[in-house]
Amino acid sequence: MFTSVKSMGLFGMHSYMVNVEIDVSGGLPHFDIVGLPNTSVSEAKERVRSAIKNSALTFPVSRITVNLAPADTKKEGTVYDLPILLSVLAASRQIKPLPETSAFIGELSLGGEVRKVNGALPMVIEAMHNGIRDVFVPKENAYECSVVSGINVYPVSTVREIVSFLDGESELETVVYSPAEENVETLIDFADVKGQFEAKRALEIAAAGGHNILLIGPPGSGKSMLAKRLPTILPDMTFEESLETTKIYSISGKLSSSSPLITKRPFRSPHHTVSPVGLSGGGVIPKPGEISLAHNGVLFLDELPEFSRTTMEIMRQPIEDGVISISRAQATVTYPCSVMLVCAMNPCPCGYYGHPTRECTCQRGSAERYLNKVSGPLLDRVDIHIEVPPVDFDKLSDSERGETSQSIKERVNKARGIQQKRLAGSGISCNANMTANQTREFCKMTDDAKLMLRDVFDNLSLSARAYDKILRVARTIADLEESEIITEEHIAEAVQYRSLDRKFWGK
Ligand SMILES: Nc1ncnc2c1ncn2[C@@H]1O[C@H](COP(=O)(O)OP(=O)(O)O)[C@@H](O)[C@H]1O
Ligand SMILES: [Mg+2]
Ligand SMILES: [Zn+2]
Repeated sequence: MFTSVKSMGLFGMHSYMVNVEIDVSGGLPHFDIVGLPNTSVSEAKERVRSAIKNSALTFPVSRITVNLAPADTKKEGTVYDLPILLSVLAASRQIKPLPETSAFIGELSLGGEVRKVNGALPMVIEAMHNGIRDVFVPKENAYECSVVSGINVYPVSTVREIVSFLDGESELETVVYSPAEENVETLIDFADVKGQFEAKRALEIAAAGGHNILLIGPPGSGKSMLAKRLPTILPDMTFEESLETTKIYSISGKLSSSSPLITKRPFRSPHHTVSPVGLSGGGVIPKPGEISLAHNGVLFLDELPEFSRTTMEIMRQPIEDGVISISRAQATVTYPCSVMLVCAMNPCPCGYYGHPTRECTCQRGSAERYLNKVSGPLLDRVDIHIEVPPVDFDKLSDSERGETSQSIKERVNKARGIQQKRLAGSGISCNANMTANQTREFCKMTDDAKLMLRDVFDNLSLSARAYDKILRVARTIADLEESEIITEEHIAEAVQYRSLDRKFWGK
């Protein structure tokens, strides 16, 4: 007898419907799976056979052929275990034929339990778009999938449970998403950071325009502390952004069951020993790396010069493009990685080069070598450089709290709103992403501002790239002030954020 069961497959972020077709006929007992399965799919045979037996059902003594359609797409992973098992039961008339509007995913244990899979969320979204009304997923994935509206999500924990539900012998409650109450206050806040007004101002500008930023300063000056607080002043995520980021965590198997939808911008801080695969993603079934886990949030590279050249080179293009491609033997998987890059570093190995009161103990030339470890092309992607000086004791012991993240965020939101309006229809949404042409078009300056910029350009012999960066940052500074035209003051402040190039890199 021939029958079929609906399921879903996943390739990178891309999900597609899979039809599990089965034919059970007389002849020598045999069990075959076709349709480009990889080893983990082929092994489904053993899991299905055992799970059926251990669920007090009967594995048919017949000739069984399972085809995973479309047959020209490679199938990997263990999500087809459950639909294959159900197809065997349906074809051997142990359960009724399954409705066209139901889809199934899940890995099986030999004992007949249904186990968690990675990437359930993007698969359920795809199922919903394909007219599936009821989707049956492993219990542990159910809450994550419940964020998709327009589809019923049934949690399944054992084969017995789903068989008895499909037979109409028992009930299975769908899982309904209830957004967690925002009861936990954000634990960190810019108000905790004493002094450092210039650094905070620079971070506000970075957040407002989506600019990448580099913080340089001695140990203990609060660079890490400042960077960690950046997500608290970034605009709230839109639902689309939340869903995109959540998909990546779903594919990585990194979603917590208590908060299935990621609504806070991620902050990822990979250690400098991170492997290329850990950073960019990869593996047999390619999973997203740190760059993609930071999608729509912050990628923080602390102690930047400690990262290897190779690592920095790997990041350069994806950070510019907002997507990363992972090449594999058969095809290329692409994951989004639209991140704000924040880098922090000491100015020299001992950390005290240029310190107002402490002596740098490094050998001559070692500060220079240290700075030169940072890849030039990566630095080129950073619009704002800021020095974070040591904060003096009086300020640290001051009990007065600084401005809260919430109030900074309000200004950031306003400035982003202005940019979105101005850039509507251009395919980008913030100043940092303006092309050279857009920079010329959208950065109108007063005559004084033009004169000043020309002076700076000539005196400091800036590159065309540096010129554009100054203009983009000046645009954001003007937006924070709700000024459509860029003035001398805006240019003057923006120029400051390039001064470290010369102080430390002699550029
Ligand atoms: N401006 C500041 N306000 C309050 N605490 C600070 C400040 N700067 C540093 N600290 C304290 O010093 C610790 C070390 O700061 P950290 O951010 O790790 O410095 P860095 O990354 O520059 O080496 C922080 O955890 C914090 O307790
Ligand atoms: Mg630090
Ligand atoms: Zn030093």
